[in-house]
Amino acid sequence: MKSLFLPVVLGLTLSLFAAPSLRATELDKSMKLIGGACKELMDDLKQPKESDKDKYLALTTTIKEQAKISRERTPKLAQTLPADQRDAMVQGYQKDMDKFIADIDSLSAALKDAKWDDARALMNTLGQDMTAGHKQYRAHKGGKDHDHAPAATDAQPAPAAQ
Ligand code: HEM
Repeated sequence: MKSLFLPVVLGLTLSLFAAPSLRATELDKSMKLIGGACKELMDDLKQPKESDKDKYLALTTTIKEQAKISRERTPKLAQTLPADQRDAMVQGYQKDMDKFIADIDSLSAALKDAKWDDARALMNTLGQDMTAGHKQYRAHKGGKDHDHAPAATDAQPAPAAQ
């Protein structure tokens, strides 16, 4: 009897390519890198050390690089809209990404000056940028309803220490 292995594997592979919603987008990949670097920086800023400043700045460099890459991507949700609505959404998305990038620059400046309270407050600002960005531009997992809070698994910048 002929082996069913090859046709089954081929079929599964093709069905994965045919289901875009199951694939992580390039934007998802950049977002994950942003999330990882934010989480690490949040942990570091609980007990910051002047001697580790370069490491903190390297993390903000990663966040900024990935934010700049993200700005040039089109959110999956926008791709589902008619052209006029899509253009409006992409414009709004790029404007909000510019604000996010400006906030990352402020964070880097605070870290350079070892202003730890400011840096923690700016991590919160990045968290707010994330919440607003996801509410507006991120497609809901099960469909088009995207009016939801970010997934619990997202890295959430911690509240600033008082
Ligand atoms: C600290 C800031 C942020 C973090 C930690 C973060 C994290 C994430 C994560 C973990 C995902 C899902 C990745 C996956 O499921 O594989 C995601 C997706 C997404 N995020 Fe963010 N994000 C941040 C900021 C932003 C901002 C500022 C915007 C928009 C202005 C944004 C827009 C999106 C969009 C549109 C998606 C869905 C990807 C797609 O449509 O292809 N995010 N983000």
